[in-house]
Amino acid sequence: MSSKYLMLKKAIKDKRVTVGVVGLGYVGMPTTLALTQAGIRVIGIDIDKARVRRLNGSHDSRRFTATANWTEIKKCKVILIAVPTPLTKNKAPDVSAIESAAKNIAKYLSKDSLVILESTTYPGTTEELVKPILEKPGRVSGKDFYLAYAPERIDPGNKFPFNDIPKVVGGMDKKSTDLAATFYLTFLKNVHKVSSPRAAEFTKLLENIFRLVNVSAINELNLLADKMGIDIWEAIEAAKTKPYGYMPFYPGPGIGGHCIGVDPFYLSWKAKEYGFFARFIELAGEINELMPHHVVTKVIWALNCIKKSLRGSKILVLGVAYKKDIDDARESPAIPIIKDLLRKGADVSYHDPFVPQIKIGNHQFKSAPLSKPLLKNADCILILTDHSTLDYSTVTKSAKLIVDTRHTIKEKMPNVIHL
Ligand SMILES: NC(=O)c1ccc[n+]([C@@H]2O[C@H](COP(=O)([O-])OP(=O)(O)OC[C@H]3O[C@@H](n4cnc5c(N)ncnc54)[C@H](O)[C@@H]3O)[C@@H](O)[C@H]2O)c1
Repeated sequence: MSSKYLMLKKAIKDKRVTVGVVGLGYVGMPTTLALTQAGIRVIGIDIDKARVRRLNGSHDSRRFTATANWTEIKKCKVILIAVPTPLTKNKAPDVSAIESAAKNIAKYLSKDSLVILESTTYPGTTEELVKPILEKPGRVSGKDFYLAYAPERIDPGNKFPFNDIPKVVGGMDKKSTDLAATFYLTFLKNVHKVSSPRAAEFTKLLENIFRLVNVSAINELNLLADKMGIDIWEAIEAAKTKPYGYMPFYPGPGIGGHCIGVDPFYLSWKAKEYGFFARFIELAGEINELMPHHVVTKVIWALNCIKKSLRGSKILVLGVAYKKDIDDARESPAIPIIKDLLRKGADVSYHDPFVPQIKIGNHQFKSAPLSKPLLKNADCILILTDHSTLDYSTVTKSAKLIVDTRHTIKEKMPNVIHL
């Protein structure tokens, strides 16, 4: 064993290394917090200067500083990359943030450092994209630096303790896997090693595809149950009594967020390189894309029942975040739904305690303060996110008509229509 590798391992184990966290968002910040709480010094690097300023003002400066200056990489022996991995308009992976972060890291990476990619991405990214960039200045992975992939599995809004989420780790070589595992065990309880970065990359996508396919399946079954006059929620509650072999998923207005509706398409894109068409992923995506249309149709139908047309009707949307109790509206089904309502001539406003404003198309919306007059004034209230802080009994008492896409209101009431 090389002594430099053993020295790095010991420094990591003793928490004597400074960790660089590249990308200070929904993943980077909780990771930073867990590291600093474990007594590890973190330098956070982000291209968003306003975010850097804000974070410097609000965190413990002894253990954490944020910067937009890439030369700080020189001070870091462990570097985590947690930058966004969105899709292009045509649903192809956009790994430009990983590429640009890797290029900047390559400029200042010190010898015998460990780089770990955490962003969700297609199998092969660490090996095919990140490794050649880091190796370019004449370095060799596994010899001059160590490289691994370890997906983040955080679920925003979920109270499950961050340190208790087991970390899957796959290094380019045994030493990289071992160093990455050693690193995570300094602040997390469990690590699960796999044989390669590709296996770890695939694992993360497997988890997200499992959710996409199951949520889309229950959404499709909901459409059918609706046609058959069957209450899907009654069926789900009944199915849940089975002691094994069933796991509940719930219908809704469509999947949103930066993960479940996005990541699976990284794999279906990569699959084509192997002459393989990932049909389940594409089908699940198709059903998910159709859900906002179904929600708008339901609103039209509900208004029709009270002899109103959507054009000119006041629609109050409750919740624009993609799921409850969080402030994230990225890829939220609320966006295509509101767009379509506007296109069809509705007068739309919204309330969301977590999202003070949102831009949809050319419209800049501000969350309207929730009041009885606001509720009473709406021709239809459309519940898109079931935030737990809202008083739904006041909502139901004041509303003329409610379309509830989340089964927030459990009782059957004449003014409430479920999706
Ligand atoms: N949000 C989640 O729940 C979640 C969960 C698990 C995994 N992930 C994955 O983690 C990754 C990060 O997601 P996120 O939700 O934290 O994103 P985010 O948008 O909240 O944060 C990303 C941060 O990276 C910064 N950034 C963008 N390009 C950069 C660059 N080239 N160099 C340095 N900084 C850059 C942005 O300014 C931003 O602050 C994605 O791959 C995502 O799929 C997200």
